[in-house]
Parts: sequence; C-alpha cells; structure tokens
Amino acid sequence: MKINTLAVQNFRCYHEKSFRFHPSVNLIVGQNATGKTALLDAVSVAIASWLLGFKKKNDKKGIELSDATLSFVEKEGEPQFAESWPVIVTATGVVENENVTWERSKASQGGNTRYGNASELIALAKRCDADLTADISLPLISYYGTMRLWQDPKASRTNPVQTRSAGKPSRLDGYKHCVDPRIGLKELVAWFARQEWQAYQAGKDSTMLTVVRQAVVSCIENAVHLRYDPKREELILTLKGGESLPFSLLSDGQRCVLALIADIAQKAALLNPHLGEDVLVKTQGVVLIDELDLHLHPKWQRHVIEDLRTTFPSIQFICTSHSPFLIQSLRSSEELIMLDGLAPAQLANKTLEDIAAGIMSVNTPQVSNRYAEMKGVATEYLKTLNEANTAPVEKLQQYKDRLADSLAPYADNPAFQAFLEMQRAAKLGE
Ligand SMILES: Nc1ncnc2c1ncn2[C@@H]1O[C@H](COP(=O)(O)OP(=O)(O)OP(=O)(O)O)[C@@H](O)[C@H]1O
Ligand SMILES: [Mg+2]
Repeated sequence: MKINTLAVQNFRCYHEKSFRFHPSVNLIVGQNATGKTALLDAVSVAIASWLLGFKKKNDKKGIELSDATLSFVEKEGEPQFAESWPVIVTATGVVENENVTWERSKASQGGNTRYGNASELIALAKRCDADLTADISLPLISYYGTMRLWQDPKASRTNPVQTRSAGKPSRLDGYKHCVDPRIGLKELVAWFARQEWQAYQAGKDSTMLTVVRQAVVSCIENAVHLRYDPKREELILTLKGGESLPFSLLSDGQRCVLALIADIAQKAALLNPHLGEDVLVKTQGVVLIDELDLHLHPKWQRHVIEDLRTTFPSIQFICTSHSPFLIQSLRSSEELIMLDGLAPAQLANKTLEDIAAGIMSVNTPQVSNRYAEMKGVATEYLKTLNEANTAPVEKLQQYKDRLADSLAPYADNPAFQAFLEMQRAAKLGE
C-alpha cells in the first residue's frame, strides 16, 4: 500500500485542500497550527478504511464530530460556533498492485462515517482476508502521535505479561491499535515475552525475534542486545561495555526510538511471517509519525530518517517535524511537504541557517533574537547620539531621555550599557 494523493474537505482547519505524497519518505513542515497533525489524522482515517475489509474486529477509525471544520459565526446577532458539512477524505494510492481511489465521508453531525465509496479498497482487503493462510503479504499500517508513549491503548491491559497469546494467534494481530496514535507497549512486551519463551522451549531464537531485535539494536547508538526480563516483566537493553538498562529507566529519546522501531518491526513480523528474514525489507505499508524528532538530540535527528529508510525500505513514511536537521537529511525536496511557503529545489547542500531562514521563516537564525535586538538598539543609539551632538541645547535633555529609555531593558547586561554610556559621555562631553 502506498498513498499517492489525499484530498480533504471540511476536515479540521482545511476547508478544501489536496496533498501529493512521495512513495518513500514525506516530511510535513509548517509553523505551529498550520495543520500537520490534522493532515496525519486525515491520512489515518483514509488508511483505516483498509481494516473494514477484515472480519476480525480491529481498530475502527472514522470521522469524528470534532473533525468537522468549526467556524465562529454570528447568527441572528448571537455569536456561535458552526460545523461545516460534509466532511470528506479522499485518497488515491496503489494497493495490492492496483491503482485505487477511495473516500470516507460524514454528511452531518448525527451521521455515520460512510464508506460506500471505499468499496474497491475494501474488496481488496476482503480478498486478502479470505486468503490469509496463503503466502500473501499484508500491508503494514501504523500511526504514532506525539503522545505515543504516554498511555497504552485501553485494550492492552494484559497484566501480568502473558507468555501465551490471549486468543488464537492471527496474522491480523499486526493490525491491533494500528490507527491509534499511542503505542500498545504492553502488547509489544508480551510479544517479546512469548517469542523468548518459545525460543527457550525450541532451544533457539525464531527468525522473527532475531529480525525485530536486530532492527532495534541497529537504530540505537551503542545498543548491542535487547531481551525480555521475566522478573521485571519488561524489556532490557544492553549497551556496548555490558551495561544493561530496563526500558523504564532508559532516557526519553532512547525509549521513543526503541518503542517506535520495535513496534513497526513487530507489526511486520506478525503480519507477514512467511517473508522470513526479509520481513522488514519486503513488508510494504504506510507509517505515520507526528514529530519524528521528539526527544532526539541533533546528532540523532541527523540520521533518524536514514535509519527508518534502511530498516524498512518498502514502507512509505509520512512524518511531521519542526527540525531543520531532519529537513536537511531528506534525499530530495520532493520528500518535503511545506504547509506554508515552497520547498526549494535542493536541500542537501543547504546549511541549517539557510533552512531555518529560507524554509522555516526564522529571522536572523545565526544569532539569538535578543542578540539581534541588542545590535539594532546599539546602532540606533549611536545614530541618536550623532543627532544629539548637533541638536540645539534646549533639545539635549529630550535626546538624553531617549537614549536612557533605549538602554533601560538591558539593565541585566552592564557591559552593554556601560559601553554605550561611555560613547554618550565621549560624544556629549559629560
Ligand atoms: N475542527 C476544527 N475546525 C477548525 N480548526 C480546527 C479544528 N480542529 C483543530 N483546528 C485547528 O487547526 C489548526 C491546525 O492544528 P494542528 O494540530 O494540525 O496543527 P500543527 O501544525 O500540528 O501544529 P503544532 O506544530 O503546534 O503541532 C489549529 O489552529 C487548530 O486549532
Ligand atoms: Mg501537531
């Protein structure tokens, strides 16, 4: 599955807008409140249509009342909020090697999310559902919001960690919570626990356990091993030098990347076990990540996109970010979706300052706002001094007051004040 285009009508901040996606990596960039998360949510509504074709109950995601564009209007002299209807999300893409167009819509506040115009996509999903025992590959779908680690989705309250699966294991377990923006951490841990229990019984690790573990280890600096600890009932990451740390004690950045990579890899392993050791390379699908740079140091930000690309080369990633380091690491400007302004032709040769100023509309990114402001004040001060020098005597006090006022906000910087005051004393002779 790959999404080529998405058009939305009356969805959150978008009255009418369409987007085109790159088949590999997409980085959505824009100032706060320009609609990055809204766009990811709209894509998640579109890709959730795939799940409607499966008999097994999975995450249902439709258009919510809060998705309808809300406007502030005056009706009969009364100010009030009004929603715009219908809300429509239309996608085109390639699914099971076929070009498909599908639509989800909600006509009014009380209406359901319709899927009549998604019948072609749902029929393809039904075909896969009827053929689950065959070697067909299922597309991976996953959504990671900014609160991805805050809270487990409610259905995963399986405590203590089960080494046996609750029901009959199914490939479709790989779709559990897949359009929920939170990671089902307990289920991820339970998957590791089951895999390690089976490995213990079989006397060797399964291919899936090896592949998922390897994906995590290759994306976390200095990591050498990942295992489940039955006493602590959590994952343990071993670093170079032999230091081992439980998941709960890892840093936010480490936990964020570990959970993200492990969750995508485990979903691929559940959906397509027949792909064996190629499961991560060959599994296709769409993964949405809001604020990919969440908790990451710039050094890590510089390689996180390449890590995702090389670990999951057949996945289409649609991510958002505020980081110039991520923008710089894109392979082409076609991978950049700008919600305000235009993407430049080249990115790789741009400095961070070019990107901040030219793409992200940051003024004077070379220095802090305060430094730029002080430089402006100093220039203005010296200009005023020159004027004061030639002004009539009766105006001198006015000039002195103006000069004193302009220095007042910098009382915390005596060197700056002292320098300009010395200039004043030299110029005005006092
Ligand atoms: N139902 C709605 N109708 C109209 N506007 C909405 C609706 N829901 C949210 N918005 C507005 O849409 C805008 C975009 O919100 P969104 O969360 O997508 O921003 P964002 O680009 O992700 O910002 P940030 O970088 O701060 O996360 C915001 O101004 C938000 O208040
Ligand atoms: Mg957002």
